[in-house]
Amino acid sequence: MTKKIAVLPGDGIGTEIVEQAIKVLDFLNTDMNLGFEFENGLIGGAAYDVHGTPFPQQTIDLVKPADAILLGAVGGYKWESLDISVRPEKGLLGLRSTLNLFSNLRPAILYPQLADASTLKPEVVSGLDLMIVRELTGGIYFGQPRGVRVLENGERQGFNTATYTESEVRRIGHSAFRIAQKRHKKLCSVDKANVLECTEFWREIMIDLSKEYPDVTLSHMYVDNAAMQLVRAPKQFDVMVTSNLFGDVLSDCASMLTGSIGMLPSASLDDHGKGMYEPIHGSAPDIAGQDIANPLATILSAAMMLRYTFNNEEAALRIEKAVNDALDSNVRTADIYAAGTQKVSCSQMGDAVVSALKNRG
Ligand code: IPM
Ligand code: MG
Repeated sequence: MTKKIAVLPGDGIGTEIVEQAIKVLDFLNTDMNLGFEFENGLIGGAAYDVHGTPFPQQTIDLVKPADAILLGAVGGYKWESLDISVRPEKGLLGLRSTLNLFSNLRPAILYPQLADASTLKPEVVSGLDLMIVRELTGGIYFGQPRGVRVLENGERQGFNTATYTESEVRRIGHSAFRIAQKRHKKLCSVDKANVLECTEFWREIMIDLSKEYPDVTLSHMYVDNAAMQLVRAPKQFDVMVTSNLFGDVLSDCASMLTGSIGMLPSASLDDHGKGMYEPIHGSAPDIAGQDIANPLATILSAAMMLRYTFNNEEAALRIEKAVNDALDSNVRTADIYAAGTQKVSCSQMGDAVVSALKNRG
C-alpha cells in the first residue's frame, strides 16, 4: 500500500536540509520497498510569497490526508516586518494545531564522536540520552485573549494568556508516561508551580496521572532550576515533560549539550500516530543557499518518522546507524567541525549518510 508523505521544505536552509533527508528516504524506499510517495507543498514565507498566507488551503489539503509530514524550517528576515498573523511562524503553528499534533518529542542524544563539539565538558555530556516531551498545541502559544491593547490611561499593553485545560494536560501526560515506560522509567515534569496557577494545575494533574503508571518515577522541577540542571548535570534526566513555551526554551538549551542544534530531530504526533517531523532548529537565513547547513537533524527526523508513524524500527535504526557511521568516517558540517576532521557541505553530508546505508546493506 502506498504511504503518502507531504514534504514542506519551507524557508531558508529548509530546502537544502530536506533535500538530504529525501535522498536518504528515497534510498530506503527502493531498498526496503516501503511504498512511500512524496508530494511537495509550501509553508511559511515561501507560501506567503505565492499565496499571501503562510498556511494556504492547498497545503492544508495536502497535509490532511497525508500519513506523515516532513518539514524543513520557516522564517527569515524578509518576512519579519509582516503582521504577526501572516508571519511564516504562523504557518507552522497553524499546521501543528490544525492536525492536533499535541505531543512533541525532542530527543537529545550525544553521539560520542561529537563529545568535543559540545561547549560543556565531555564528562558532563558523554552518554547523554534524554527525551523532552513538549506540549505543542496549547499554553501561552495559543491562549486567548492575546494582542496589544490601549489601557484607560492611554498606555499600550502587550498581553498573552497561558491556559491549559485538564484534558490537554492529561493527554500530554499520558504520552510522556508511556514514553518513560519504554525508557528508563523516570519522568520529570517541569513547571513554574510556585508562581503560575496554570502550571500548579499542570503539576496536580501529573500527580494524579502518576497513579496509573506505578512503574514510572515522577518528579517535579521548576523551569528555572531545570534550565540550570540541564547544563549542570544533564544525565540526571530520562524523560522531561513540559508546556509549550518551557519546552521551546529547554529544547534549544538541551540541543547544545549534543554539540549543535543541527543535530536535534523532532516528532510532533497526534493521538493516532500521524506525525510531522522536523529539525528543532530554525531556517538560519544567514547561511541559507550556501550548502553548509547540517542536515543530520532532518535526516534523524526522517528516522523518527519511520519509527513513530510507520512503526518500522528496522528502517529507523538503519538511518541512525548510518548517521553514526558517517560521523565515524570523520566528515563534519561547519557547525560540528573540529580540528582533525573533514569539513563537508550539507549535500556531501547527505551523500555520506546514503553511502553509509549502502555499505551496511
Ligand atoms: C520550534 C520553533 C518554533 C516554536 C517557531 C519557529 C514558531 O522555535 O519549533 O521550537 O516556537 O515552536
Ligand atoms: Mg524553538
